[in-house]
Amino acid sequence: MKLKIRKYPDPVLSQKAAKIKDPLNKEVQELIENMTETLHANKNGVGLAAPQVGVSVRLCIIELEDIRYILINPKITAKSRQKEVCDEGCLSFPGEFYPVSRYSEVQVRYTDEKGQPAKVKTQGLLARAMQHEIDHLDGILFISKTKKLQKILNR
Ligand code: NI
Repeated sequence: MKLKIRKYPDPVLSQKAAKIKDPLNKEVQELIENMTETLHANKNGVGLAAPQVGVSVRLCIIELEDIRYILINPKITAKSRQKEVCDEGCLSFPGEFYPVSRYSEVQVRYTDEKGQPAKVKTQGLLARAMQHEIDHLDGILFISKTKKLQKILNR
Protein backbone atom coordinates (compact mmCIF):
# COMPACT_ATOMS: atom_id res chain seq x y z
CA MET A 1 0.00 0.00 0.00
CA LYS A 2 1.32 3.39 -1.00
CA LEU A 3 1.52 5.80 1.93
CA LYS A 4 1.04 9.54 2.05
CA ILE A 5 4.29 11.46 2.40
CA ARG A 6 4.25 14.09 5.12
CA LYS A 7 5.42 17.48 3.94
CA TYR A 8 7.24 20.15 5.90
CA PRO A 9 6.22 21.61 8.39
CA ASP A 10 4.33 18.50 9.60
CA PRO A 11 5.39 18.18 13.28
CA VAL A 12 6.17 14.44 12.96
CA LEU A 13 9.19 15.41 10.83
CA SER A 14 10.77 17.25 13.76
CA GLN A 15 10.32 14.49 16.36
CA LYS A 16 13.03 12.13 17.55
CA ALA A 17 11.86 8.69 16.43
CA ALA A 18 11.62 5.69 18.77
CA LYS A 19 13.88 2.65 18.58
CA ILE A 20 12.35 -0.50 17.08
CA LYS A 21 12.42 -3.31 19.64
CA ASP A 22 11.27 -6.17 17.45
CA PRO A 23 12.19 -5.84 13.75
CA LEU A 24 10.23 -9.01 12.94
CA ASN A 25 7.01 -7.56 14.36
CA LYS A 26 4.21 -7.78 11.80
CA GLU A 27 3.54 -4.04 11.86
CA VAL A 28 7.22 -3.27 11.25
CA GLN A 29 7.36 -5.74 8.35
CA GLU A 30 4.23 -4.21 6.85
CA LEU A 31 5.69 -0.73 7.23
CA ILE A 32 8.85 -1.83 5.37
CA GLU A 33 6.72 -3.20 2.54
CA ASN A 34 4.56 -0.07 2.33
CA MET A 35 7.52 2.31 2.54
CA THR A 36 9.27 0.41 -0.27
CA GLU A 37 6.18 0.76 -2.43
CA THR A 38 5.92 4.45 -1.56
CA LEU A 39 9.58 5.05 -2.44
CA HIS A 40 9.13 3.27 -5.77
CA ALA A 41 6.15 5.49 -6.57
CA ASN A 42 8.42 8.53 -6.17
CA LYS A 43 10.93 8.06 -8.96
CA ASN A 44 13.19 10.93 -7.92
CA GLY A 45 13.53 9.73 -4.33
CA VAL A 46 16.61 7.86 -3.16
CA GLY A 47 15.51 7.35 0.42
CA LEU A 48 12.56 7.46 2.76
CA ALA A 49 12.44 7.55 6.54
CA ALA A 50 9.48 6.26 8.59
CA PRO A 51 8.68 9.70 10.09
CA GLN A 52 8.08 10.89 6.50
CA VAL A 53 5.08 8.58 6.33
CA GLY A 54 3.93 9.66 9.78
CA VAL A 55 5.41 6.77 11.81
CA SER A 56 7.94 7.98 14.36
CA VAL A 57 10.21 4.90 14.50
CA ARG A 58 13.87 4.37 13.60
CA LEU A 59 13.54 2.82 10.17
CA CYS A 60 14.63 4.09 6.78
CA ILE A 61 14.97 2.73 3.27
CA ILE A 62 17.54 3.71 0.68
CA GLU A 63 17.57 2.55 -2.91
CA LEU A 64 20.42 3.43 -5.16
CA GLU A 65 21.46 1.76 -8.41
CA ASP A 66 19.15 -1.21 -7.71
CA ILE A 67 20.71 -1.85 -4.30
CA ARG A 68 18.24 -1.61 -1.45
CA TYR A 69 19.14 -0.93 2.15
CA ILE A 70 16.55 -1.41 4.85
CA LEU A 71 18.00 0.18 7.93
CA ILE A 72 16.46 -0.50 11.32
CA ASN A 73 17.88 1.47 14.26
CA PRO A 74 20.82 2.70 12.13
CA LYS A 75 23.78 4.40 13.72
CA ILE A 76 26.77 6.13 12.16
CA THR A 77 29.78 4.47 13.76
CA ALA A 78 32.60 6.07 11.78
CA LYS A 79 32.98 9.00 9.44
CA SER A 80 35.66 10.48 7.22
CA ARG A 81 37.43 13.67 8.14
CA GLN A 82 36.60 15.00 4.69
CA LYS A 83 33.23 16.52 3.84
CA GLU A 84 31.66 17.48 0.54
CA VAL A 85 28.94 19.91 -0.43
CA CYS A 86 26.27 18.82 -2.89
CA ASP A 87 22.70 19.83 -3.72
CA GLU A 88 20.22 17.71 -1.82
CA GLY A 89 16.49 17.15 -2.07
CA CYS A 90 13.89 15.52 0.17
CA LEU A 91 10.49 14.00 -0.57
CA SER A 92 9.05 16.12 2.27
CA PHE A 93 10.20 19.25 0.39
CA PRO A 94 9.05 18.62 -3.18
CA GLY A 95 10.96 20.61 -5.78
CA GLU A 96 13.40 22.13 -3.29
CA PHE A 97 17.14 21.57 -3.52
CA TYR A 98 19.81 23.08 -1.31
CA PRO A 99 23.55 22.61 -0.90
CA VAL A 100 24.38 20.53 2.17
CA SER A 101 27.77 19.57 3.53
CA ARG A 102 28.08 15.87 4.44
CA TYR A 103 30.87 13.47 5.37
CA SER A 104 32.36 11.89 2.24
CA GLU A 105 32.36 8.43 3.85
CA VAL A 106 30.41 6.93 6.70
CA GLN A 107 30.17 3.53 8.30
CA VAL A 108 26.69 2.56 9.47
CA ARG A 109 25.63 -0.21 11.81
CA TYR A 110 22.01 -1.30 11.69
CA THR A 111 19.62 -4.20 11.95
CA ASP A 112 18.33 -5.56 8.65
CA GLU A 113 14.76 -6.57 7.83
CA LYS A 114 15.47 -10.14 8.95
CA GLY A 115 16.50 -8.90 12.36
CA GLN A 116 20.21 -9.52 11.73
CA PRO A 117 22.92 -7.04 12.71
CA ALA A 118 24.65 -5.50 9.69
CA LYS A 119 27.36 -3.01 8.88
CA VAL A 120 28.07 -1.06 5.70
CA LYS A 121 30.78 1.37 4.65
CA THR A 122 29.56 3.90 2.13
CA GLN A 123 30.80 6.86 0.17
CA GLY A 124 29.53 9.48 -2.26
CA LEU A 125 25.79 9.67 -2.90
CA LEU A 126 25.06 6.60 -0.79
CA ALA A 127 26.91 8.07 2.20
CA ARG A 128 25.01 11.32 1.69
CA ALA A 129 21.66 9.48 1.58
CA MET A 130 22.52 7.54 4.76
CA GLN A 131 23.30 10.76 6.63
CA HIS A 132 20.16 12.48 5.31
CA GLU A 133 17.86 9.59 6.27
CA ILE A 134 19.43 8.99 9.68
CA ASP A 135 19.02 12.71 10.38
CA HIS A 136 15.28 12.25 9.74
CA LEU A 137 15.16 9.76 12.63
CA ASP A 138 16.46 12.47 14.94
CA GLY A 139 14.00 15.03 13.62
CA ILE A 140 16.77 16.87 11.77
CA LEU A 141 15.82 18.23 8.37
CA PHE A 142 18.27 19.15 5.61
CA ILE A 143 17.12 22.76 5.55
CA SER A 144 18.70 23.20 8.98
CA LYS A 145 22.05 22.23 7.44
CA THR A 146 22.08 24.41 4.36
CA LYS A 147 24.16 27.55 4.64
CA LYS A 148 22.39 29.11 1.70
CA LEU A 149 18.99 28.91 3.37
CA GLN A 150 20.36 29.98 6.73
CA LYS A 151 21.59 33.14 5.03
CA ILE A 152 18.14 33.76 3.56
CA LEU A 153 16.47 33.24 6.93
CA ASN A 154 18.92 35.49 8.76
CA ARG A 155 18.44 38.34 6.36
NI1 NI B 1 14.40 13.63 3.38
